[in-house]
Amino acid sequence: MLSAKKSPLFAAGTDTIQKAIEEAIAYARPFLGQGAPADYIPELAKANPDHLAVCVATLEHGLCCCGDCHQKFTLQSISKVISLILAVEDHGVDAVFEKVGMEPTGDPFNSILRLESASSKPSNPMINAGAIVVTSMIKGSSGEERFQRLLDLLRRLCGNDALGYSEETFRSEQNTGDKNRALSYMMRSGGIISGDVEEHLECYFKFCSALVDCTDIARLGAVLANDGYSPQTGECMVPLEVLKIVRSLMVTCGMYDFSGEFAALVGLPSKSGVGGGIVSVVPNTMGIGVFGPALDGRGNSVGGVKILEYLSRNYGLSIF
Ligand code: DON
Repeated sequence: MLSAKKSPLFAAGTDTIQKAIEEAIAYARPFLGQGAPADYIPELAKANPDHLAVCVATLEHGLCCCGDCHQKFTLQSISKVISLILAVEDHGVDAVFEKVGMEPTGDPFNSILRLESASSKPSNPMINAGAIVVTSMIKGSSGEERFQRLLDLLRRLCGNDALGYSEETFRSEQNTGDKNRALSYMMRSGGIISGDVEEHLECYFKFCSALVDCTDIARLGAVLANDGYSPQTGECMVPLEVLKIVRSLMVTCGMYDFSGEFAALVGLPSKSGVGGGIVSVVPNTMGIGVFGPALDGRGNSVGGVKILEYLSRNYGLSIF
C-alpha cells in the first residue's frame, strides 16, 4: 500500500492541513529571490515574482488554501497531462505511444537534441516535442475544435466550467515560439507529425495559455489522486489504465531535468509549468496545487518546489 496512507495528513482535519500549508508557505518564501519569472514568452515576464500560493484538495474534506490562491496564471506545461489523457482517450495507449516514447531525457523541456536521432520520435509526452505530437493527434476537424475539446476536459477535471485562456499570452508565445516551430518541422520531416504545423501549434499554444488558479489545479490533482474518479460526483474521468501511465510519467518526466532529484526530495507524481504552477498527486489522499512565478533555471517554480519539499518531508507524503 502506498505510504501516503500513513501520512499524518491522511484523514487529518482541515485545521491540521491549514496549519501545515501555512508553515510550508513561511518556509518557502525566503527562497523566492533565487528565481525569476520566465521571459522567453514575453507576456510571462510581467508576473509578480512575490506571488506564492498553495491549495490542498483532500478526498475527504475539500479545499484548504493559503497565499495568493485566487491569482490566475497560465497552465503552460501542466497542459501536457490533459493533452495526453485526451489523445489516449481518442486513440488508445498503443497508437499514442507509437509516436512518442515513455523515457525521461535529462535534457531541458524544449531541447531539440534527441530529435536528431534516427526516429525523430520524442522521448516522452511531458516535454514540448512530445506534447506537440500528442496535441496533433487530438480528434477534431480544426485546431480550434481540438482546443475546445481540451478546454472542456480541463474544465471537467478542475470542476470549473468558467475556465478560459489568455489571448495575450497565447499571442505572445505564437509570436516568439520559434523553438517549438523548429521542433515541429523537424518532427514533420521525420514523419512523426503530419498536416498543418501552424494549426497544431496554435492549438498547443492556446491550451498552454489556459488560465487557472491554485484551487483549479489542486482539484485536478485530487482526481488523479482518486484513481481518476471525481471526489465530488464519483464519476470516472480518467480510466485506470490511462491514469497509471499518466502518474508514472509525471514521476519520471514531470519536472523535466529535475525529475530525479524531485522524486528523491518530494516523491510525488507532479507536473510543472513555466507559468509558475505545479500540480502534485498524493495517491488516495489529496491533490496539491502550488503557484509561484519565480522559476529556477530548469523552469520549475522555486517557491512551489520548496512548499512541496516541506510538506513531503514533514508530513511523510512521499510514495516511495
Ligand atoms: O512550449 C512552451 O515552451 C511553453 N508553452 C510551456 C513550457 C513549460 O511550461 C515548461 N515547464 N516547466
